[in-house]
Amino acid sequence: MRITILGGNGFLGRKLAARLARDGVLGGRPIAALTLFDLAEPAPLPAPFPVRRQAGDVADPAAVAAAIPPGTDVVFHLAAVVSAQAEADYDLGLRVNLHGTLAVLQACRALGTCPRVVFTSSVASFSGGQEAVLPDDARQLPANSYGAQKAIGELLLQDASRRRFLDAVNLRLPTVMVRPGRPNRAASSFVSAIIREPLLGLETECPVPESFAVWICSPRSAIAWFLHAATMDTAPLGLDRGINPPGRSATVAKMLQALEEVAGAEARARVRFVPDPEIQAIVADWPAAFEADRARRLGFAEQEPLEELVRAFIAEDLEATRRERGL
Ligand SMILES: NC(=O)c1ccc[n+]([C@@H]2O[C@H](COP(=O)([O-])OP(=O)(O)OC[C@H]3O[C@@H](n4cnc5c(N)ncnc54)[C@H](O)[C@@H]3O)[C@@H](O)[C@H]2O)c1
Repeated sequence: MRITILGGNGFLGRKLAARLARDGVLGGRPIAALTLFDLAEPAPLPAPFPVRRQAGDVADPAAVAAAIPPGTDVVFHLAAVVSAQAEADYDLGLRVNLHGTLAVLQACRALGTCPRVVFTSSVASFSGGQEAVLPDDARQLPANSYGAQKAIGELLLQDASRRRFLDAVNLRLPTVMVRPGRPNRAASSFVSAIIREPLLGLETECPVPESFAVWICSPRSAIAWFLHAATMDTAPLGLDRGINPPGRSATVAKMLQALEEVAGAEARARVRFVPDPEIQAIVADWPAAFEADRARRLGFAEQEPLEELVRAFIAEDLEATRRERGL
């Protein structure tokens, strides 16, 4: 198996790379080589197979072609400008999220061997808001530029799959929590911050009310879905390459309750409610629940309970986050 992770230095890219290094196999086949590609050269990764680390721009076709050499079996396309940033800088979002995806499509097409492409789309490609429970055939009607760019990427990869240029699985990821490190420029950054910052002993602001619900998943689930998407039989997908994986609908109140159960009332007390109209304007349209029956039928694993998400962050990422932030 020869694998490329575009966006290999990001939150999920690093976790995926670490998991591949630990397993040494994908879908029962030994991994022969892994390429990690990101804007800055990805961090070294000890692994039982050769790891190439490349710096480059995903919107640069030559750089992307170099990151997807002949013989590549699987490409994880995670490189993206996230939601609030793509909303604030339209040109950057268009370049990275749309032209980057086109460069990936063309690089895979040039191989002539129809590699599997796992593309990370987003719940932000839908709208419907707090009351919605979206069925599997819900129409993508994005209410932000990031979501529109993801939906366009999906459609391009779906058509490229029909033409056998590549073999895409488009995962519409829920908001992944708990994200380690620092707050980022995703509009949903607060979803992780209200758990992570209190666990670091820091105060944080929540821009939405306690009743606000979010469709979430854990990093563990996201990685499990990536591996399944990379190895599943895509014949049953037919033309429809879009998957709404089985996340979980959770209100801010439920998240804080899980925080309190694991880390006590003093942790919960570090969250203050300060409405932010800019963030609210982006996240208000995101649907808070999906039926996700098709994904379950296709073997995508269920989401673990909220308390487990909090405990997993403490076990796997809290110390590294402390070190990274000099706390
Ligand atoms: N984390 C979530 O909650 C979530 C939810 C839905 C969808 N997604 C999608 O999943 C993917 C991974 O998310 P993440 O949380 O790891 O994001 P992240 O921001 O941590 O990682 C994305 C990576 O892409 C890289 N990148 C940005 N512009 C680039 C460019 N021009 N060329 C090359 N690399 C570039 C960044 O440097 C970063 O390392 C993204 O596509 C994101 O849109 C994430």
